[in-house]
Amino acid sequence: MESEIGGLSGLQKSLSKEPLKALLVSVYKGSAAGKATYQEHLEELALLAQTYGLEVLHKVTCAIRRYDSANYVTEGKLQELVDLAKEYQVDLVVFDDEIAPSQQRNLEKAFKVPVIDRTELILGVFGQRARTKEARLQIELAKVKYEAPRLKRLWTHLSRQAGTAGASGGGGGGGYTKGEGEKQIEIDKRILRRKIDQLQDEIKEVKGHRETQRNSRQRSQIPVFAIIGYTNAGKSTLLNALTNAGVLVEDKLFATLDTTTRKFQMSNGQEILLIDTVGFIRKLPHLVVAAFKSTLEEAFQSNVLLHMIDVNHPMAEEQAETTYEVLRELNSESTPVITVLNKVDLCADKQMIARMKVKYPKTVEISALNHIGFENLQDLMIEELSRQRQVLDLIIPQSDYAVVSEITRTGHVITQDYEANDVLLKIELPFALVEKVKKYMKIP
Ligand code: GTP
Repeated sequence: MESEIGGLSGLQKSLSKEPLKALLVSVYKGSAAGKATYQEHLEELALLAQTYGLEVLHKVTCAIRRYDSANYVTEGKLQELVDLAKEYQVDLVVFDDEIAPSQQRNLEKAFKVPVIDRTELILGVFGQRARTKEARLQIELAKVKYEAPRLKRLWTHLSRQAGTAGASGGGGGGGYTKGEGEKQIEIDKRILRRKIDQLQDEIKEVKGHRETQRNSRQRSQIPVFAIIGYTNAGKSTLLNALTNAGVLVEDKLFATLDTTTRKFQMSNGQEILLIDTVGFIRKLPHLVVAAFKSTLEEAFQSNVLLHMIDVNHPMAEEQAETTYEVLRELNSESTPVITVLNKVDLCADKQMIARMKVKYPKTVEISALNHIGFENLQDLMIEELSRQRQVLDLIIPQSDYAVVSEITRTGHVITQDYEANDVLLKIELPFALVEKVKKYMKIP
């Protein structure tokens, strides 16, 4: 079901094949010292914009003393930004923040081109990249919720497109015929409400199905490691390097939107499942957090989290903290974490690596791309898993051989011998299975 009444993708469709030209704005309150950070944030916004397919013509940081409730920025600053947009003849302006619907409408009146915020851009990127049915539905729901309070603005877009000026012309006055527009907005609101209900029902159904799959996986008791981390940290690269999974690797944000699961045999022969997850990002819009919570929930059912950090990134420390913040938000701090410092082939800042090692226990340095550090990584994974498992000596009669097959598939066999009609097993098993084989335990 298509929901586009306007918005970013509606605008994209209404224009020619040429990429939309954008001006990116990062507004910040505070001293000049903070400028470097905001410039980095702007770089990230640019990467997001490019990932969506926009052409970034200019980026600007804008220091302000106070926010303006009507226009987001005060009049003088707004005029400077409007002049910049005119100078570069951009098709749209992207703000690196969440902007209230009324402010967005006022900004559009001033710029005379569409103005979008970070949330709308992230929703656009997610919308392009979601693959599974659940991810698509979740994003669709987030989009409808985002659009609901902005119907007036979307109608302004439509009448602009229908009018003479056109959104890219920079001169469109916008404005719909009031009576007609208001009536239509009421009708649209009702349609959107119905759509939200319908999407929520569909999500419930798909979720139920996923739950069943997860339960059957849990029953199989194969240990699960979830690779999490900031977007572009190298999560898919690691999964591919270890398992030849063929997952899309791109120097773009959010190349991976759905979780991919692959089997992997560690150096001690133990089979595990590795899950690649959606990347984290600073100021993840709350609509998107809600949308992806369910996808991430799966990762948090895992035995161990592999938290990947791109140590070559200038904001590596901030990115690592963002990931931990999201973990806290999702109440998943209790899952053990191994911190994987990736891209050491590029990183020259040894002091930063040393700081990370102090801050995060259980740390390993790797290069997923160049297959460096994989042995150390696996050693840590094996060590962490053994913490969650117990070594048992079992005597199982040959007549119960089905039990032997089952537990040797999931456990790590240390020794296996035969004596008369019995199988003697020294095996490391997950705690969850210990109860099941209790009756075979050798009494010392
Ligand atoms: P999202 O899907 O956005 O969350 O990204 P991701 O974390 O899955 O990152 P991905 O594996 O797509 O890698 C991002 C970029 O980093 C790609 O261009 C990779 O080639 C590059 N990369 C990954 N690991 C390394 C590494 O160890 N060294 C270097 N130099 N580049 C790497």
